[in-house]
Amino acid sequence: MRYLSIGIAIAALSAVAGAQSLTGVWSGRYSSDDEARVIVLGLDADAAGHLTGYLRLPQADERIVDGRVSGGVFWFMSERDANNNTTQQRIYGGEAQGEKLRLIIPGNRAQSMELKRVSSDRPAPMMPVPPKVSLPAPPPVASNGLAQTPPMGWNSWNKFQGKVTDKVVREIADAMAKNGMKDAGYLYVNIDDTWESARDATGNIRSNSKFPDMKALADYVHGKGLKLGIYSSPGPKTCAGYEGSYQHEAQDAKTWAAWGIDYLKYDWCSAARVYAPDQATMQAAYAKMGEALLASGLPMVYSLCQYGMLDVGEWGAKVGGNLWRTTGDIGDRWDSMQNIGFNLQMGREKYAAPGHWNDPDMLEIGNGGMSETEYRTHMSLWAILAAPLLAGNDLRDVAPGILEILNNKEAIAVDQDKLGKQGTRVSKQGDLEVWARPLEDGGYAVGLFNRGASAAQVTAQWSDIGIAGAHAVRDLWAHAGRGTASGSYSAEVPAHGVVLVKIAK
Ligand code: GLA
Repeated sequence: MRYLSIGIAIAALSAVAGAQSLTGVWSGRYSSDDEARVIVLGLDADAAGHLTGYLRLPQADERIVDGRVSGGVFWFMSERDANNNTTQQRIYGGEAQGEKLRLIIPGNRAQSMELKRVSSDRPAPMMPVPPKVSLPAPPPVASNGLAQTPPMGWNSWNKFQGKVTDKVVREIADAMAKNGMKDAGYLYVNIDDTWESARDATGNIRSNSKFPDMKALADYVHGKGLKLGIYSSPGPKTCAGYEGSYQHEAQDAKTWAAWGIDYLKYDWCSAARVYAPDQATMQAAYAKMGEALLASGLPMVYSLCQYGMLDVGEWGAKVGGNLWRTTGDIGDRWDSMQNIGFNLQMGREKYAAPGHWNDPDMLEIGNGGMSETEYRTHMSLWAILAAPLLAGNDLRDVAPGILEILNNKEAIAVDQDKLGKQGTRVSKQGDLEVWARPLEDGGYAVGLFNRGASAAQVTAQWSDIGIAGAHAVRDLWAHAGRGTASGSYSAEVPAHGVVLVKIAK
């Protein structure tokens, strides 16, 4: 009995030692290419293994609100301030061994990173957050006249994230010029986050070692008959923790113009650290860059990325935006794509028009997480939604079936229809949905979608679309006429699939 209780006491003591050895301040770098991208984790483990503390990411501070450690393995839930006086919570996990700690950062593309112990002291409480800037609603920004149809091109993020380089961008441009995409209308080659380096002594933004010469890269891409896009944030840091444009808006716009940049994606991220969480302030922050781009001397498509917060459809065009994201990030999974495409776009159609578009995020077609049937659904739905078509896969090595999906000129013609009216759902029966988009020539693009797990017959009723009588039907994936239909059109649709048709006037 005595030995047993000693044993229990030792076990308890070592559990406590394990817990408390996590106590301290840990720090690490996101990647080795930029020393400024440090994250700091302050952990305080009590004797029972409960965790409190904080996490300082380049783009946000988070408070740890709950957590446990046992035998070096830990999890914690942290909370950060979001817009509209709400908070966002995330769950992290990891393991500590001696002076090193592996932290698993959650997200669509979860990553893990190594932190080293900086101290074993209990972390001091997080610094109080400085007061945030509140700005009045800005006067409207003049239209730049661009994006009369939804922008088309490619963006580096979905496939490459931090691994995008000058070489990759050149090779993608080469591929687009050769594989039929340029001819199909894909024009912009967009570098997303992770190109940035620290500013020089006069505050000019510089690219990091992955992009030795941005002007030369722009010249190269232009030489292929394509255009080059770039990425920044209204906040001090980007989402991946690189340098943002806060308080350097006009200077950055001029730098990009001097490089020959044709497109900017402007991503809110750490702007939440410095700006008050209200609509007027957010509009003012975006309008500031809208004006800066207009004054830069080079026309640039202006893509707002703030995940659809604060009714962006109501004001995105007024701050100079040509497109605005409507949701959080897409993932290369059926659930993510279908949730964004089918569930989260309804009601936004009134905001889309030539010059400014809802952006349900970049394409995942070809990234491998969905079947070709599901990717055809992705492409068809984005076309009906008048969404920007920004491929997000590695175009240097594309399977023929995937290229056929991206280059389907009949689906692209729907997306790029000059009337510029975004389509919407006209009927729903369980997993079976019909979506319709009016076209310039008086016809309709109609998607017969099956979100269910087995094949089914889907019917588009003319009365749901708002037409009557007999109309010629053409299947835009089979590239074949389907005769004339009166009153309705039905087709067998595979699980997670689509039959996309055009109903003539
Ligand atoms: C955010 C955006 C993504 C991408 C990353 C880059 O998550 O929504 O599209 O730009 O930032 O860090």
